[in-house]
Amino acid sequence: MGDSKELTLDEIVALCKRRGFIFQSSEIYGGLGSTYDYGHYGVLLKNNVKAEWWRAVVQERDDMVALDAAILMHPRTWEASGHLEGFTDPLVQCLGDCKRRWREDHVREEQLGAEDAEGEIVCPNCSGELSDPMQFNLMFKTHMGPVAESGSEVYLRPETAQGIFVNFKNVLQFARKKPPFGIAQIGKSFRNEITPGNFIFRTREFEQMEIEFFVPPAEAPEWHQKWMEDRMSWYTELGIRPDNLRLREHGSDELSHYSSATSDIEYLFPMGWSELEGVANRGDYDLTKHAEFSGEKLEYFDQQSGDRYVPYVIEPSAGADRATLAFLVDAYDVEEVEGRERTVLRIHPRLAPVKVAVLPLVSKEGMPERAREIHQQLRQVVPAEFDEGGSIGKRYRRQDEIGTPYCLTIDGQTIEDGTVTLRDRDTLEQTRIPADDVVSEIERRLGEPWSPPARS
Ligand code: GAP
Repeated sequence: MGDSKELTLDEIVALCKRRGFIFQSSEIYGGLGSTYDYGHYGVLLKNNVKAEWWRAVVQERDDMVALDAAILMHPRTWEASGHLEGFTDPLVQCLGDCKRRWREDHVREEQLGAEDAEGEIVCPNCSGELSDPMQFNLMFKTHMGPVAESGSEVYLRPETAQGIFVNFKNVLQFARKKPPFGIAQIGKSFRNEITPGNFIFRTREFEQMEIEFFVPPAEAPEWHQKWMEDRMSWYTELGIRPDNLRLREHGSDELSHYSSATSDIEYLFPMGWSELEGVANRGDYDLTKHAEFSGEKLEYFDQQSGDRYVPYVIEPSAGADRATLAFLVDAYDVEEVEGRERTVLRIHPRLAPVKVAVLPLVSKEGMPERAREIHQQLRQVVPAEFDEGGSIGKRYRRQDEIGTPYCLTIDGQTIEDGTVTLRDRDTLEQTRIPADDVVSEIERRLGEPWSPPARS
């Protein structure tokens, strides 16, 4: 397989469930619409995605600092940002049999070829007549404090970005940075999407990995370009095949209320090209609005030149769940080995949930202890798993499906000559190496450059 055009999302969903990556939320109660829980390997994988993002955008740069803002923010934030008024999608309801609700722009695109195409649309489910569209605000509303009264209303943030803008002054004071510099944050966001779907692609609760990069206004186009290139490279360096990735510039009718230019990094998901990450030039929209609504000065004063200005903002905004899905889809491969089908996640070793599995083959005297010892040494340096249950074929299949790059088998020969067998997930090559060298050999291999192998 390997070509994501042939792969269906159902195969990914099935693998995620079978191997404990991702489950439907509240499954025992029948599930809750489009919310998902991450199981052990899903947590490890998504953590690795977030850690790689963090490493690339914070750890390896001098011009970025970190932030972790609260999910609940002062309600004025959303007035200032324009979300209360403008963060809406056009909702239509079926007036026929099924009464289902749809996003009008999506139905227009599907039935008439473009989001803004003129003409009649019908319910995609039962072909019934549709209501006139109404603007539906996507923010989840709740109440702060014991009484649900107006005035105590707060919102679950629909993007992490606003937490960064309202902290601009704090960061400027304490981080000793001057534009160009950026603030990075990973956190949950919530949107009451009208039509969530496609597994973890569009959910109502999701994690964002966002950067607000503050620049002198004249430098904004140049930084916008740089960030698009940097972010594209991040995905390909982590193994996404370049053919499955593209940049698409937004048309003027698509731009968000705050953006003067946005390009989407799109991935070829099984349901077609779809947004993976947006890279927007937000201009001075947000800082100006928050200054207006809060009465605080949100600008940069350059003491050397005497210049005072409101920085422009370049915003690379990625979804941790969407990125995780893209890495899973791109890695998924099925091949035939010795007449049997093998499903394997050819995921970048840096993202793999488990780096090495220790698989004892015989239970001769001294063997399990030796295998445990090796596992113990390995887990000090990398995530390592010990698996002694079932046939070796089954154990390999399990490790292949969770994308473990290396498996070590400990067998009768280990006691005799102190060697173990190291199996490579991608090439299936098996090498005997001294057990004493296992840790250094695994570290050496994991440190080597990796690129996605050719597909069967
Ligand atoms: N601050 C800008 C912003 O939030 P966005 O294009 O609405 O821009 C950025 O969202 C990224 O967040 C998207 O590219 C996607 O990866 C992720 N995202 C947005 N809505 C999502 C949803 N409902 N489910 C999962 N991920 C979502």
